[in-house]
Amino acid sequence: MSFLALAYPQSALHPAGPVAREQLSLIIFSFAIMTLVFVVVMGLLLYVLVRFRRRNHEGDPPQVEGNNLLELIWTGIPVILIIILAIPTLRTTFALAKVPDDRPVVKVDVVAHQFWWEFRYPELGITTANELVVPVGYVIDFHVTSQDVVHSFWVPRLGGKLDAIPGRNNHFWLQADEPGWYPGQCAQLCGESHSLMAFAVDVRTPEEFDAWVKKMKEPFQPPTSALEKEGMDVFAQSCQSCHAIAGTDFKGTIGPDLTKVGLRRTLGALTLRNTPEDMKAWIHDPASFKPGVLMPQIPLTDQQLNAVVAFLQSQK
Ligand code: CUA
Repeated sequence: MSFLALAYPQSALHPAGPVAREQLSLIIFSFAIMTLVFVVVMGLLLYVLVRFRRRNHEGDPPQVEGNNLLELIWTGIPVILIIILAIPTLRTTFALAKVPDDRPVVKVDVVAHQFWWEFRYPELGITTANELVVPVGYVIDFHVTSQDVVHSFWVPRLGGKLDAIPGRNNHFWLQADEPGWYPGQCAQLCGESHSLMAFAVDVRTPEEFDAWVKKMKEPFQPPTSALEKEGMDVFAQSCQSCHAIAGTDFKGTIGPDLTKVGLRRTLGALTLRNTPEDMKAWIHDPASFKPGVLMPQIPLTDQQLNAVVAFLQSQK
């Protein structure tokens, strides 16, 4: 079973933060107005069907073409409804565009890639992938862009969504009420594995968040066992052209940054669990889990695979 299946449900109807709540009230309000229109129009239709049945009438009913009063009514009512919809929509849009200044803020730069998410904390000097760790109650101030095609950044329970467009820097903020694991999803068809371009917002208490930051910034831990040492050599040969590990000479930027990758719960943008078995299977043949993935299948022996997995799992 895909790890994604465990991440559900993800629903905008169960908001877990102020932005999602505002947006849900707008959804409910629009839905109520649409329901009202539907009921009135269908009611009129039924009434006309019954009232003007052929057996009740001889010949054509009275003709109303060019009736000014009727024209005014059926133009005026939709205009009024659109104005009623527009006012709260605009008010919410402008209110949410402003980053609140009464709460602490964490800045996060999001870079979308086919088919994973890069998360950079510009003020903390941390880069990670697919699992965004943030403190509860903080405003998460996002700048979202893309490295390749158009993607869309969406965390249904926290709010959204925001397009990730190459060459553009889109801005919005989200906030979570409670610690927890909030699944997110690319919401713009972006290629073969669009549906597997998931991520999660991992909301923690401020103390847990600080501990995570401290851990992420700890210096590189050189390998201790012979197997891990061998794994680091394999990494140097086969992986570092695409992947970086802070504090080493490995500085690839094509794939996810693997600094402290052993702290993550998932692999392949939430496609697999971060266990030694799953990591080995992933490195052995990424495309079998994720069609169209850019990570190539590298010819490694079983021993080399075990070694590189041991090295990566030790990074935590
Ligand atoms: Cu990225 Cu769909």
